[in-house]
Amino acid sequence: MRDAAPQTIHLSDYTPPNWLIELVELDFTLDPKATRVTSRIRFFRNPASTKGDLHLDGEQLTLISASIDGVSLSENEYQRTETALTIPADRLPDEAFIWEAEVEIAPADNTALEGLYMSGGMYCTQCEAQGFRKITYYPDRPDVMAPFTVRIHSPMPVLLSNGNPVERHGPVAEWHDPWPKPAYLFALVAGDLLSYSDHFMTMSGRPVALNIWVRRGDEDKTHYAMGALKRSMKWDEDVYGREYDLDVFNIVAVDDFNMGAMENKGLNIFNSKYVLASPETATDRDYEFIEAIIAHEYFHNWTGNRITCRDWFQLCLKEGLTVFRDQQFSGDMRGAAVQRIDNVLQLRARQFREDAGPLAHPVRPESFVEINNFYTATVYEKGAEVIGMLKRLVGDDGYSKALDLYFTRHDGDAATIEDWLAVFEEATGRDLTQFKRWYSQAGTPRLSVKSDFSNGTYRIEFKQETKPTPGQPDKQPQVIPVAIGLLDSSGAEVEPTRVLELTETRQAFQFHGLKSRPVPSILRGFSAPVILDHTPSFEDRALLLAYDTDPFNMWEAGRSLSRETLMAMLTDDTPPAQAYLDALVRVAGNDTLDPAFRAQVLALPSEDDIAQGCVEAGLVPDPTRIHATRKTLTTTIAEAGRETLETVYDQMVTDGPYSSDAGPAGKRSLRNCALRFLSLLDGPLRARAQYDAATNMTDQLAAFACLLDAGDTDVAARFHEQWHGDRLVMDKWFMMQVAHAAPEDAVNRAKILTEHPDFDWKNPNRFRSVIGGITAANPAGFHDPSGAGYAFLADWLLRLDKANPQTAARMSTAFETWRRYDADRQALIRDQLSRIADADGLSRDLAEMVGRMRTD
Ligand code: TRP
Ligand code: ZN
Repeated sequence: MRDAAPQTIHLSDYTPPNWLIELVELDFTLDPKATRVTSRIRFFRNPASTKGDLHLDGEQLTLISASIDGVSLSENEYQRTETALTIPADRLPDEAFIWEAEVEIAPADNTALEGLYMSGGMYCTQCEAQGFRKITYYPDRPDVMAPFTVRIHSPMPVLLSNGNPVERHGPVAEWHDPWPKPAYLFALVAGDLLSYSDHFMTMSGRPVALNIWVRRGDEDKTHYAMGALKRSMKWDEDVYGREYDLDVFNIVAVDDFNMGAMENKGLNIFNSKYVLASPETATDRDYEFIEAIIAHEYFHNWTGNRITCRDWFQLCLKEGLTVFRDQQFSGDMRGAAVQRIDNVLQLRARQFREDAGPLAHPVRPESFVEINNFYTATVYEKGAEVIGMLKRLVGDDGYSKALDLYFTRHDGDAATIEDWLAVFEEATGRDLTQFKRWYSQAGTPRLSVKSDFSNGTYRIEFKQETKPTPGQPDKQPQVIPVAIGLLDSSGAEVEPTRVLELTETRQAFQFHGLKSRPVPSILRGFSAPVILDHTPSFEDRALLLAYDTDPFNMWEAGRSLSRETLMAMLTDDTPPAQAYLDALVRVAGNDTLDPAFRAQVLALPSEDDIAQGCVEAGLVPDPTRIHATRKTLTTTIAEAGRETLETVYDQMVTDGPYSSDAGPAGKRSLRNCALRFLSLLDGPLRARAQYDAATNMTDQLAAFACLLDAGDTDVAARFHEQWHGDRLVMDKWFMMQVAHAAPEDAVNRAKILTEHPDFDWKNPNRFRSVIGGITAANPAGFHDPSGAGYAFLADWLLRLDKANPQTAARMSTAFETWRRYDADRQALIRDQLSRIADADGLSRDLAEMVGRMRTD
C-alpha cells in the first residue's frame, strides 16, 4: 500500500523548508529483521520563513516512540500517513526544539535496494534520491543540511558511516561528519569486510587515510581502483584547486546495487562491478569505467556535496557538472581525442535516442512523479555537454574564474541553475539569458547547412530547428557554438578552428581571402549536442578522414561514410563503394594513427544507431534487415582489407605484463577489431587459438564473442567451468550468450538462461546481463517480428517491479523507441505497455514510465 495516489511534483511549487536542522544524532542497533533507529534532531525555525508545520517524510517505518523536547507525543498530536508525519505549527515551540524518535525497519526484506538493505551478508544504504525516509522520519529534501553523528551497534567487525571515526568500543562505533549535508548523502555500512589501504597527502599537507572495503576473497582486486582514487584526488587539486576535507575516505564495494555508485560524504558506495578488477577478470573497458566512476564519485565531494542541489529539479547542477569533470579527467588520463569520440557515441546512443522519443525532457525537468526516473542520459550526458558549450563560449579563463566564484560563493549551499549561471555572468560579463534555454528546452536541435564560394569568399549559412517534444510544441532558437575550420583541396588547413555563435534560426557567416573552394570541417570536437544535417561529397569526406586536424571530425567523416553506405545498402541494395572500402582499410593500416582511434574508425555504427539514422532520414527501420546488412558490410570490409587486417592482428601484440593503460588497451582494441573481421572470413580457428592463449579478460572475451558468433557449441560450457566462481565474470557469461545469439534464437536463449541455477533476478547486475542483454545488445532479437521479445521484457518487468521498482522502471526504457517501427511492431509493443499499465499494484516508478511512453 505504498502510493495510493501518485502526485506530480512541480518545480514552480518550490517553497523553502519551515524548519532547519542544527545537528542530527542517529543510533542504529542492527538486525536483519528488526533494526532499531533512534534519532535525536535539533530543529530551529528557518529565519527566512514564518513558523509552520513540521513535515517529516517517512515510509515503511514502524514507529515505536516520538517526542518533542523530551515530552512524548500521543497519536492525536500528529498526523501520520503512509509517507509522512506532520506536526501542526501550534504544537511546536516558536524557535527551536529537539525531536526524538525510535523506529524499526527490516533491512533483510528490502529488495528495492533503497534505504537500509542487505547484500551478501553486509548491511548497506542507498539514500539518493529519497531513500533516507525509509530509515527514519526526516525532512528528506536536499535543502535541509546538517552535521551528523552516528552510532552503530552491531557485532559485525567493520562499522562505517560518513565523516571521521570518533571511537570504536567492541560492538559500538561512532562517526561524526562535521560538514552539513542533506540526508541523501547519509551512508552506513556494516559487514565482515577487508580493506586495502593507502594514504594521500593533500596540497596543503593534510594526510588522508584511504580504504577500499570488500568482501573476503575480493581483496586482491582493489589496487587499480585505489590508484584511480589517488589520481582523481590529485587531478582535482591541480585542475580545479579542490582539496579533500576529511581525515578518511572510504569506498565500499557492494554486489547488489541499482546504479553505478554513490557519492555519500566520505563513504562512497560502489557497485562492485566498478571497483573490482584483475587482468584475468576485467576487460580494458571495465578498467576505463572504474577509473571514470571512481573519479566521478570523488569529484562529487565538491560538486554535489559541499555544494548540493536546492531541490531535485536541479539534479543536473551536480550531475551534469560532475560528468563534465570526469570526462575532462578521463581525457587527461587516456587521451582526449579517443575519449571525446567515446563520449559522443554514448551521447548519441542514449541521449539522442531519449530526446527523439516520448521520454524526452529538458536537462532541468519541470515536473516529475518519481525522481528516480530522471537520472537520465539527458540530465547527465546532455547536462555535461551544456557545460562544455558554456566553457567554449566563455573560454578557459572565463570558465575557471566562474568556477572559482561558484566554489567560494556557494560552498555549503543548496544551489540552483540560476546560481550557477549567475557566476558565469558575473565572472565573464556575458548575458546567458538565451543560453539558459539549453536547460529548459528538450529535444536535439537539427542544424542544416548551405554554403557557396565566389571571389575568394566562402559563405556558410546555418538553419536550426528542434522538433516538438512532449509538452513543448514550439521551440525557440538556442545559442549553438559551432567550432569550424577550413581545409583546401590538398588537405592543408587554411583556416584554423574558430567558434561561430549561432543565436538565430537562420544565420550566415563569411570567410574571406580564400584561394579556392574550401572543404569545411564543421562542429569540430562535437562542439554542440546537435544533429548536423550536412552530407558533403564523398571526396570531401575522404579528404577530412585523411587530413582533418581535428581528430573528432576525422572520425566523424569516416562514420558518415559508413552510415551512408549502410543506408544505401538498406534502401536499394547498393553495394559499398570501393573507394569507401579503400579509405577504411587505409585507416586500419595507418601506423601513424593511434590504434585506439583506428579501431573507432573501423567500428560500424551499432544496430540501434542505424535504426536511429533511418528515422532521421524519414525511413521505417527494420531491425532484422539492419542486423543482416550490418553483418554483410562487416564481411565486405573484411574481404577488402584481409591483408591489412592480418598484418594488424599480428602486429598489435602487447607483450610484458598486462597494463590497462590507454596505449596497450588501444592495441588490444584494434587487434580484437581485426579478429572480429577476420573471423567472419576464416571461421573460428583464429579466435579459438586466442581464447586458449588469452591471459587477460579483454582478449578472452573478444575471442568468446567470435566463437559464439561462429556457432561454437562448447565454448560457453568451458567458460562457465572456468569462471563460475566469479560473480562479475558470470555476468559477462550471461550477457554474451544473449548478445551473440542469432536473432531468431535470442529470446529462447535468454529464457533458458533465466532458468539457469546461477541466474539471480533480484541482483540488478545479473538481471541487466540477461534482460538487458536482449534489449540493448541484441536489438534484432528483441524486435523479432513475433513479438516474443516484447512479451519477455514485459513479463520480467512485472515480476521485478514487485521487488525492485527502480531497476524495473529503468529497464522499461527499452520500449521508448516504439514509434520508430512498423505498424505491426508498434501494435505489439503497445499491447505490452497496456498490459503493464493495467497490472495491479504497479509501482509509482514503472507506472510513470509506462504512462509517459504510451501518451506521446
Ligand atoms: N548520484 C549517483 C551518481 O551519479 C547516482 C546514483 C547512485 C543514484 N545510486 C542511485 C541515483 C540511486 C538514484 C538512485 O554518482
Ligand atoms: Zn553523479
